[in-house]
Amino acid sequence: MRFDDFDQRGYPEVDVRTGYGAWAATYDGSVLDAMDIALLEQLKEPVWSTVDLAADLGCGTGRTGAWLRANGVSTVHGVDLTPEMLEGAGRRGAHAKLVEADVTETGLPSRSYQLITASLIDEHLDDLAPLYREAARLAAPGSAFVLVAYHPQFMMVSGMPTHFTSADGESVTIATNLHLVSDHVGAALAAGWRLAEMREGLIDDHWVAAKPKWARFRGQPISVAYVWRND
Ligand SMILES: C[S@@+](CC[C@H](N)C(=O)[O-])C[C@H]1O[C@@H](n2cnc3c(N)ncnc32)[C@H](O)[C@@H]1O
Repeated sequence: MRFDDFDQRGYPEVDVRTGYGAWAATYDGSVLDAMDIALLEQLKEPVWSTVDLAADLGCGTGRTGAWLRANGVSTVHGVDLTPEMLEGAGRRGAHAKLVEADVTETGLPSRSYQLITASLIDEHLDDLAPLYREAARLAAPGSAFVLVAYHPQFMMVSGMPTHFTSADGESVTIATNLHLVSDHVGAALAAGWRLAEMREGLIDDHWVAAKPKWARFRGQPISVAYVWRND
């Protein structure tokens, strides 16, 4: 569903390519690792160092890919819709291959990847089903699909869409949808995945130190990681 009913900011809105094209230059400095990397670090599975080939869907500037490589994944292929984000990933050098494509139609080979990741991207999709289906198509038998999301509970409580500050200092929303936990479960099960692990990241002292205005959100979940398996 569209996030509009919960939006308390009312910033001007742009589409994904326009938004991330403008945000790319400052993106790395504005996303806290507590949002996504901290959750990846808590996961019991997959055992990253056993993964030979991973597909990083919505790879952006390569933050996720660099973490995967640093944690023992041998080779990572990245897919993203926004050329400027892909240029950042190219400079970072974590991905062996970078493809400009939609995550729901990547063009990557079927049944080839032991790990598929999609971090901080699902809120930009109207419908989750095509993403889960594409991940299932890419997955080799016994694979994991690790999806990290901006938590729907935090989005509803805070009224805050995904947004960035433009070069002229204006806050801009990138078209944002709201997907409930049950939307993820329904789309994943329909695509043949089973849930193996789930973690939620809460607003804690670390977050409040970084964003003092968020003290009122202490204890709320801000992000969530799902580990799906196809065995
Ligand atoms: C918040 S960034 C996340 C990047 C990276 N995974 C990270 O965690 O830093 C979201 C990325 O998803 C990409 N994106 C959004 N919708 C997409 C789609 N339908 N297909 C491909 N990429 C998409 C954007 O271009 C952007 O680079």
